[in-house]
Amino acid sequence: MCYNQNNGGRIAVLTKKGMVIIMDKLRIGIIGTGGIAHSHARAYKNFEDVEVVAGADIIPGKARAFLDEFGWTDAAAYETCEELCARDDIDAVSVCTYNSQHATCAIPALLSGKHVLLEKPMAITLQQGLDIMAAEKESGKIVSIGFQPRYGANFQKVKEIISSGQLGDVYYVQTGGGRRRGIPGGTFIDKEKAGVGALADIGCYALDFALNSIGYPKPLTVSAVAYDYFGKNPKYYGEANRFSVDDFSSAFIRLEGGITLDFRMSWAMHMDTTGDFIFLGKDAGLKVRQPNYELWGGAWDGTVGDITLFHDFMGAPTQTPVPIARQEKGNLFEAKVRAFVDAVKTGGKAPIPTSQIIYNQAIIDGIIRSAACGHEVEVNL
Ligand SMILES: NC(=O)c1ccc[n+]([C@@H]2O[C@H](COP(=O)([O-])OP(=O)(O)OC[C@H]3O[C@@H](n4cnc5c(N)ncnc54)[C@H](O)[C@@H]3O)[C@@H](O)[C@H]2O)c1
Repeated sequence: MCYNQNNGGRIAVLTKKGMVIIMDKLRIGIIGTGGIAHSHARAYKNFEDVEVVAGADIIPGKARAFLDEFGWTDAAAYETCEELCARDDIDAVSVCTYNSQHATCAIPALLSGKHVLLEKPMAITLQQGLDIMAAEKESGKIVSIGFQPRYGANFQKVKEIISSGQLGDVYYVQTGGGRRRGIPGGTFIDKEKAGVGALADIGCYALDFALNSIGYPKPLTVSAVAYDYFGKNPKYYGEANRFSVDDFSSAFIRLEGGITLDFRMSWAMHMDTTGDFIFLGKDAGLKVRQPNYELWGGAWDGTVGDITLFHDFMGAPTQTPVPIARQEKGNLFEAKVRAFVDAVKTGGKAPIPTSQIIYNQAIIDGIIRSAACGHEVEVNL
């Protein structure tokens, strides 16, 4: 199909067979019009078959300014997500609020009949994640979680290598990385708003990369620690008095199938990296190096360093470099929004479904609980 003519809320589409059909554009609302909402808006703006018709933000005037910035002057601006959800002419929403408001906004959106593209992490607690899934089921709508690195060529290649059986059964995975100095600002460091720090902000990407590559096995137990030595120290961080989340965490996670997941994540530390991604299988191993230790952002942009296969050849331990694909960073975000739009339009399944990401959320919840109580906790799913 080729989209070729705009006409208000409708679009004329030329099919491959030369027929012209008139379709309604998908009507979108954006809830939370802060930083990342701009990336959603840029993607929607590039799609001729969608129309952003509303925005909501609890800061007075912020949604209006945001919509105007993108030229959507006819779109309605609201100061609560409930007002936006009350509209029955909106097909789908992007939920781009800070983490503590993900469930608060995703649930009414679903229950009022809207599909939801929900930013990562899915939520803060496991219960919030389960509540989102219950609303999804009740509504019959889809929720897709915003992990754009899934659309990275190298991430897909790692999954393909592991799925092909090259490594045999995978029994140990190390995931993490982190930043040497990279504590963000704004709402990310405020426990009331973000809920958690590095462990969920960039940690959820590292978890998704590891778990998605091995088919998302269920987590069983978590033993974790979390620290805030850099964020709370004015020597290292300018807003130390406002810092109320973690800046480093580490966890030992038992997964179904006898698989161990070793996780480390930092926003700040006296080290270049907490390690590469490694996958140990009974037949071979795979190492995915961090692209740039100093600036590594938790694989959020899908960038990786060298990928190497460790295997035996003619009885001798051998290393084979895996060719790395060049990828356009900017396109990953658009790919994630496009996949969501396509799923909504075709009545398809969520591209990044809650049935997978609830395991990611369960681990984050387990890390928070275990770090607080000081011993291993069970994951009850
Ligand atoms: N996928 C990515 O690459 C990526 C990158 C950055 C952030 N994120 C995620 O996006 C989310 C938002 O991050 P951000 O940097 O845009 O934060 P932000 O603080 O800049 O923006 C959040 C906005 O949501 C608004 N808001 C809060 N509660 C609301 C509610 N109940 N109803 C309506 N609006 C509400 C706030 O007023 C604020 O304007 C976070 O969950 C973060 O983890 C994803």
